[in-house]
Amino acid sequence: MYRLTEEQKKRVSDLLSQMTLEEKIGQMNQISPSIVGGFDVSFPELIEMVGDGRISHDEFARIMNTVQRDYREDDIRAGRVGSMMIQDPVKMNELQKIAVEESRLGIPLISGLDVIHGFRSVYPIAIAEAGAFDTDLFERTAHMAAKESRTQGVAWHFAPMIDVARDSRWGRVSEGPGEDPYLASEFARAKIHGLQGDMSSHENYVAACTKHYVAYGACESGRDYNTTSMAKSQLHNVYLPPFKAAMEAGAATAMASFNDLNGVPCTVNAYTLRKILKETYGLKGFVVSDANAIRECVTHGIAQDDMDAGIQAAKAGLDMDMGTEIYSTYLPQAVAEHKVSMEVIDEAVERILSVKMWLGLFDHPYITEETMHRYDELPKAHTDLALEAARKSVVLLKNEGNILPLKKSQKISLVGTLADMKEEIIGAWAMSWQQKDCVTILDGLKNAGADVSYYPCGGPEGDLNLDEIAAAGNDGDVIVAVVGELVSMSGEAASKADITLSGRQREMLERLLSYKKPVVAVLMNGRPLALSWESENVPAIVEGWHLGIQMGNAIADILLGNYNPTGKLAASFPYVTGQCPLYYNHPSTGRPGSGSKFTSRYLDAPFEALYPFGYGLSYTAFEYSEMKVEENEDALEIHVKVANTGSVSGTETVQLYMQDVTASIVRPVKELKGFAKVALAAGETADVVLTLPKNKMGFYDDDMNYCLENGKFNIFVGGNSRECLKTQVDVEF
Ligand code: BGC
Repeated sequence: MYRLTEEQKKRVSDLLSQMTLEEKIGQMNQISPSIVGGFDVSFPELIEMVGDGRISHDEFARIMNTVQRDYREDDIRAGRVGSMMIQDPVKMNELQKIAVEESRLGIPLISGLDVIHGFRSVYPIAIAEAGAFDTDLFERTAHMAAKESRTQGVAWHFAPMIDVARDSRWGRVSEGPGEDPYLASEFARAKIHGLQGDMSSHENYVAACTKHYVAYGACESGRDYNTTSMAKSQLHNVYLPPFKAAMEAGAATAMASFNDLNGVPCTVNAYTLRKILKETYGLKGFVVSDANAIRECVTHGIAQDDMDAGIQAAKAGLDMDMGTEIYSTYLPQAVAEHKVSMEVIDEAVERILSVKMWLGLFDHPYITEETMHRYDELPKAHTDLALEAARKSVVLLKNEGNILPLKKSQKISLVGTLADMKEEIIGAWAMSWQQKDCVTILDGLKNAGADVSYYPCGGPEGDLNLDEIAAAGNDGDVIVAVVGELVSMSGEAASKADITLSGRQREMLERLLSYKKPVVAVLMNGRPLALSWESENVPAIVEGWHLGIQMGNAIADILLGNYNPTGKLAASFPYVTGQCPLYYNHPSTGRPGSGSKFTSRYLDAPFEALYPFGYGLSYTAFEYSEMKVEENEDALEIHVKVANTGSVSGTETVQLYMQDVTASIVRPVKELKGFAKVALAAGETADVVLTLPKNKMGFYDDDMNYCLENGKFNIFVGGNSRECLKTQVDVEF
């Protein structure tokens, strides 16, 4: 975990005492190699060309590999750069050599990168993996990503992304653990342990960067980078808990978010950065801005110019500038004019040097030829983990008439361009070179020996080939249609005002259904979709998300019954887009939605989710009974019997929810407070015990006090957030 030895601390302070102001500010400067030429059009136009499809992603990647870059060797040599964002291990070694051997004090660079859900092996996107409700898995995938990236010189991950997100119009719901603060906190803790926990060798751990701090997921109307505003109690009860959990687990760094929170951009927000993160949660490492965010404070209208933005950010506790070089340009003058104190600079630099020291970069600055090529071929343990994570993240949403699992004798017509696009299974932020190990759904079904014929027919972008649809409809005994979103439709800067299936995919399903054969829809997507038509008309629906390199094998295992689905939803699915933001744990209203007119409802859509948080079917069925609550001094112990009443073995995620019935501020109708996974053979019953510590039954008020108020609590246990057994207890704290 993140802790420096006394000797390391001394090395840091000795170094600090020898540094000039310019060298200190250099440590606060993170740059990326700038593109200086080598292609015929301007860089912004090139970006536009890939965006509007004038050139393919492959062509873009090819151009990018040949462009001329400025790696700023002179600045590194002069100690004016503390961190680089770079993915090329050979180049990184060269630059590191300049920093270590040619700069005055030999301080190594730290290389950071967006390793969001895997590095060499790509795992499911976070919203999918969170639905595995498996903290051990969360930790293992993070640890593998740490080991893989360290072989390439990447010692710092801009992850985990732990923004609670409740509006599926926001494209970045894909990157985080969903709508619930408890699950997001468990996810955060496990990811920090996985990334930072194994210090048996410097090759086994990286520094985590928890992001985006804070409340970025609450962007108004789901539009990326948009404003956020909320009561402090909501900030502390919903959006801060995952960050608190990450800090308790020892997260080394954090990234300030782009959004303004209650009128102050998080980049210059002294309340969130200094008071909460550093003083209250005790962040030991440092805070980096998001990309170019310091300059954006001028656009926000909170700073009059770049210098003012830099001064405000530094004073607020933002230690490293990502991308603008405002710190390196203006802080020397700001310090000379006493607009920023030397203490502020020293604090930032000490934090940055400490993280570098803890990572072992001073003693092991380079990567060797051996490590660089260690994972050229992925070891089996890595693909096995990717397969395990992918299988556990799949959610069975609907299975009318037990169409699934398919019988081995059934001939499959596989439909949808998404079924055979390697680049579309890995999800946002995965790098293109990772595609070589990708198994598409077509490949997966073939690998599993299924009798499958493939008809692309159409995809998310609106293409539809009627001849192929006719061929598919006439061919197989069953039709498996892969529908959903391209990777580019979720992630950063990918908000949508309509989250139904895009293009003509619904029409494609409609046409396929007309052949009167069983149709299974397999979804590939980065956000909850509005599926009211599909849920009514398509008999079986499998939520496959973007599952990473082993997606095809995992989906084949599920479709063919080699793996019984266990995944649950980490975010509610609406019937229609207009229900967003939608989340199960909303505050109680005075008029809870019902069939009556003057209640909290819509005239033209249900008020509840189509598929609620925690929901997911299995090929077997589970029954809950005999719930009882026992109280001891410190905790409630909730006992429940869970029976597998179906004919195959299966694993259930037993979920514990609570409602504080009457409190001094309005509390949610339900809040997740724990979960346990139970594997049960057909016909088997287990006694499951879940513990709810009493000191976790409170909430924060607007003054950041954690309140434990005596009174009635409803306790719920079930297989999803809607269908639960319920009992009421009186609790005194
Ligand atoms: C994103 C961050 C990311 C950073 C660096 C930003 O645009 O918001 O999540 O870590 O870029 O790539």
